[in-house]
Amino acid sequence: MKRIGLLTSGGDCQALNATMRGVVKGLSANLTELEVYGFMNGYKGLIYGDYRLLTSRDFSGILTKGGTILGSSRQPFKLMREPDEKGLDKVEAMKQNYYKLRLDCLVILGGNGTQKTANLLREEGLNIIHLPKTIDNDIYGTDMTFGFYSAVNIATEAIDCIHTTAASHNRVFIVEVMGHKVGWLTLYSGIAGGADIILIPEIPYDIRRVVEAIDRRTKAGKGFTVIAVAEGAISKEDAKLSKKEYRKKIEAQKYPSVAYELAEQIKAANGPEVRITVPGHTQRGGSPCPYDRVLSTRIGVTAAKMILDEEYGYMVGIVNGKMKKVPLAEVSGKLKMVSPKDSIIQEAKLMGISFGD
Ligand code: F6P
Repeated sequence: MKRIGLLTSGGDCQALNATMRGVVKGLSANLTELEVYGFMNGYKGLIYGDYRLLTSRDFSGILTKGGTILGSSRQPFKLMREPDEKGLDKVEAMKQNYYKLRLDCLVILGGNGTQKTANLLREEGLNIIHLPKTIDNDIYGTDMTFGFYSAVNIATEAIDCIHTTAASHNRVFIVEVMGHKVGWLTLYSGIAGGADIILIPEIPYDIRRVVEAIDRRTKAGKGFTVIAVAEGAISKEDAKLSKKEYRKKIEAQKYPSVAYELAEQIKAANGPEVRITVPGHTQRGGSPCPYDRVLSTRIGVTAAKMILDEEYGYMVGIVNGKMKKVPLAEVSGKLKMVSPKDSIIQEAKLMGISFGD
């Protein structure tokens, strides 16, 4: 007999349901008795005792279903130790709900912030397994997160669609791709979509280099340019500011997002007029791609095996194609960023893609 809890926290992504299905199928196939409690809307459900007893029916037909059947919310890690508006100790409340249901383990699906709270609960003595979700693929200790390739597909399709219209009209387009802190999604979809300029947070850009890259294409007789820019792309100038100064500057400018700021900067540097496309949250939506369905199933089933073996305190990662138990204590709080030295960046540069540096 096992009793497990499941929750999905932070920004949603594709394959959350597929992962939970993998966990539950992996357990039901090997246990005669299993109770699965789903906490609603992320850590909120665990804090306030909002949960549902789930049956195998809940996990049927959800392999292909986007979003999360449990709902999700953002509960910042930095506020976890602060009481809520009614004075409730959130960490204590989460522990009490875990003990009340006599859970053997809590399986937590989420990104970096979620992982930090998962690690905190582990430190508080709960049996925790963390499963790495995010379209950003920025979780340290795993080569891949589920959600990433599905989002790459959507962002690539957006760039593909812009390509044909940009070419027909000889226009310069900016496509803004998700990713505030890291640029994996922009890098992969930019390369897959044949973007001419890729701007990511890890490589601050010089607007003169961006305009030069556009000019080079014009002089070579290519009338159009596609720029893939990450939400968190930053100029070399701004990268020198402190976090506080940068936030102040952004607030004062009131651009809806980085693409609009970049368009203005290009214009101010005597560049051409540009058009902007922001696929936004479509990148997190819809059905998981086949790669994510396979990855999430493997991750879910590996978690099930760990629960059967009573191995807790880990994230389930994938390293060199193999599933890996990664100690939460070793990875919590670390980000997996693009390095300007990564060979993928060097290869992209070799074939003429500009990173604006
Ligand atoms: O972390 C996933 C993510 O989609 C990022 O790529 C993006 O910057 C952020 O979440 C958007 O957050 P929200 O959904 O809260 O606007």
